[in-house]
Amino acid sequence: MAHQVRAVVARGKGAPVSLETIIVPDPGPGEALVKIEACGVCHTDLHYREGGINDEFPFLLGHEAAGVVESVGEGVTDVAPGDFVILNWRAVCGQCRACLRGRPWYCFSTHNAKQKMTLTDGTELSPALGIGAFAEKTLVAAGQCTKVDRAASAAAAGLLGCGVMAGIGAAINTGNVGRGDSVAVIGCGGVGAAAVVGSSLAGAAKIIAVDIDDLKLETARKLGATHAVNSKNSDAVEAIRELTGGFGADVVIEAVGRPETYQQAFYARDLAGTVVLVGVPTPEMKLELPLLDVFGRGGALKSSWYGDCLPSRDFPMLIDLYLQGRLDLDTFVTETIALDEVEKAFERMHRGDVLRSVVVL
Ligand SMILES: NC(=O)c1ccc[n+]([C@@H]2O[C@H](COP(=O)([O-])OP(=O)(O)OC[C@H]3O[C@@H](n4cnc5c(N)ncnc54)[C@H](O)[C@@H]3O)[C@@H](O)[C@H]2O)c1
Ligand SMILES: [Zn+2]
Ligand SMILES: [Zn+2]
Repeated sequence: MAHQVRAVVARGKGAPVSLETIIVPDPGPGEALVKIEACGVCHTDLHYREGGINDEFPFLLGHEAAGVVESVGEGVTDVAPGDFVILNWRAVCGQCRACLRGRPWYCFSTHNAKQKMTLTDGTELSPALGIGAFAEKTLVAAGQCTKVDRAASAAAAGLLGCGVMAGIGAAINTGNVGRGDSVAVIGCGGVGAAAVVGSSLAGAAKIIAVDIDDLKLETARKLGATHAVNSKNSDAVEAIRELTGGFGADVVIEAVGRPETYQQAFYARDLAGTVVLVGVPTPEMKLELPLLDVFGRGGALKSSWYGDCLPSRDFPMLIDLYLQGRLDLDTFVTETIALDEVEKAFERMHRGDVLRSVVVL
C-alpha cells in the first residue's frame, strides 16, 4: 500500500517551493517508513532549491528531522514501529574501505531507501540528502534511523540530524578541540553556533564567534562564545589574532562556505593550527593561496562532512546531554512553523533572522 502525504517540493532552479501531495511506498527490504514530527530548515535545503547541489529536480526537501517509525520492511531488526528516531544521512555500509578500516564515520558507500517517492503523476522525487522530511511521512533506509530517548522534544532532536551535528562534530570530531584550546568560529548560523557549543563541551578556553550579524553574535555568546567579532566592521583575522596574544586560534572553523571566509580562517589560525571547513561552497568557487603559506604555517586543513559523526554513537549521547541540561538545543529553535511556511523560512534565513526555523507536524 502506498501513502499519499503532503510534502514540500522544489520543482525548478530558484523557483519557490510548493506544497504537494506525494506518494510514499510501503517499506521494502531494509527500509523504514517514518512519520515525521519535526524537521529543521537548513541552508543546504536552500542550496538544493537554487540548483547549487545538482540538477536532479524535483527535490523533496527537508533533512533535519525526528519522528516515529511507522513500519519497517523485511529484514529490519535495528529499529521497530513506535521507535522515536532521528534521521541521518550517514547509514554506514560496514563493507567499504573506510568501514573495514574501522572508520565508519568516513563511510564511502552510505545508503538510502531503494524505492522512489513520487509526485502523483509518477515523477520520481530526489529526496534532499536521501531523506526528504518536509513531509508527513518519508521512506528511508532503516540505517538512517537512529533511536533516541523519547523524552527529547522532536524539534530539538531533529536538529542533530544535520546542522547542529555538523557544527558540534566539526569542533569535537574533526577539529579535535581539546581542553584549554582557543577556537574561532567564522559564521554563526545554525552550524557555526553549534560549533561554538561543541567547542564549549570540549573544554575550549577561548571561543571567538565571528559573524556579520549582531543578533547571531549575541546568540553565540549565550551558547558559550567568550568573545564576539562583527567582521562587517572590523578585520576578522586581525581581531582573532589580537584576542589570542597576536598568534591566532588553535582551531578555526569556517561555517559560511565562501572563499573569502576560508581565507580568513586560514590566516586567523596559529602556526600548526587546524582549519576546519564545514560551510559548503558552490561549484564555481575557487581559492587561491600562496603554497608557501600552506607549507610554512604547518598544521592541518580539514573539511568536515556531517561533523565526521557516527549517528549510532553520537545521537543518543548528545540527546542524553540535552536531557541532562548540559547541551542547549532549544536555543537553536528560533521558531516553529507549519509545512506550508518553508518558503517564508528561506526568506528569513536569507535575511539572517533565524538560527533555525523548524517545521512541526
Ligand atoms: N559540512 C556539513 O556537513 C554541513 C551540514 C549542514 C550545513 N552545512 C553548511 O554550513 C553552512 C552554514 O549553514 P547554516 O545552516 O548555519 O546557514 P546560516 O545561513 O544559518 O548561517 C550562515 C551564517 O554565516 C554568516 N555569514 C555570512 N557571510 C559571512 C561573512 N562574510 N563573514 C562572517 N559570517 C558570515 C551569516 O550571517 C549567518 O549567520 C552552509 O554552507 C551549509 O550548507 C554543512
Ligand atoms: Zn562503508
Ligand atoms: Zn543540513
